Amino acid sequence: MEEQSVKQCCATFYGSDFARMLLGDSFHPGGTRLTGRLGELLALSPESHVLDVASGRGTSALHIAETFGCRVTGIDLSEENVSLASADASQRGVIGQVAFQLGDAERLPFENDSFDAILCECAFCTFPSKSVAASEFYRVLKPGGQLGLSDLTRSEAEIPGLEGLLSWIACIGDALPEERYVATLQRAGFHISRTEDHSHALVEMVRQIQAKLLGAEIMAGLKKIDLPGVDFATGRQFAQAALQATSSGVLGYIVIAATKP
Ligand SMILES: C[S@@+](CC[C@H](N)C(=O)[O-])C[C@H]1O[C@@H](n2cnc3c(N)ncnc32)[C@H](O)[C@@H]1O
Repeated sequence: MEEQSVKQCCATFYGSDFARMLLGDSFHPGGTRLTGRLGELLALSPESHVLDVASGRGTSALHIAETFGCRVTGIDLSEENVSLASADASQRGVIGQVAFQLGDAERLPFENDSFDAILCECAFCTFPSKSVAASEFYRVLKPGGQLGLSDLTRSEAEIPGLEGLLSWIACIGDALPEERYVATLQRAGFHISRTEDHSHALVEMVRQIQAKLLGAEIMAGLKKIDLPGVDFATGRQFAQAALQATSSGVLGYIVIAATKP
């Protein structure tokens, strides 16, 4: 698939009501608990201006703004997500502190040395050119600035049942082993300060998705909800394959903290 189609496909899926039904508002394993952990690792404070790359529905940006008092700019490729996140910020009365805009992680619309910290959760693995995104992160961070990334890892090239379009959408298609993320960030100039394994959060998330898929299938069968075009059989197989891969350690979830010297 062409790079632009991959990005748009991911943005369309994560802008959909179906994604929200399955994942809730926080589109990554560990939810706001893990976002809070990243905020601690980044040592966020009211003086920090943070860029949330691929900010989704804005849940993490709003969470760190409220928890650490920092200013946050979120960018995302999905117009739907940007508009929902902006509406949420307005509703919570934090418009001056948190803002969202449309943008591509591989072409960040910001000047060099603009931010004290960058957050990027469950999205780096979907970027077709991770080295370009890493260089962009480096460029827009101030010297001494911190990057906090959480992402899926995969240890094998082929995972039966998880290949193809669906796996691109679910971020798994182009996930890498931890050492390759680390090497990509180091090549961009980052110093790695910490890595943490949070694979248990991924297992928990896949179990929740399985339960929600089952619930949605029952409701659709009873004609209580209308989900046109949703293929429950494929969804079920996919969730089962993902659970097997996470339980056996082929798929995982990690946190990486890095510094721009
Ligand atoms: C799995 S969701 C994660 C969203 C958010 N970080 C969270 O954890 O709730 C992936 C997000 O990446 C966005 N995205 C995908 N490719 C992107 C790109 N090249 N630039 C900016 N956002 C992108 C999608 O629109 C989607 O909102």
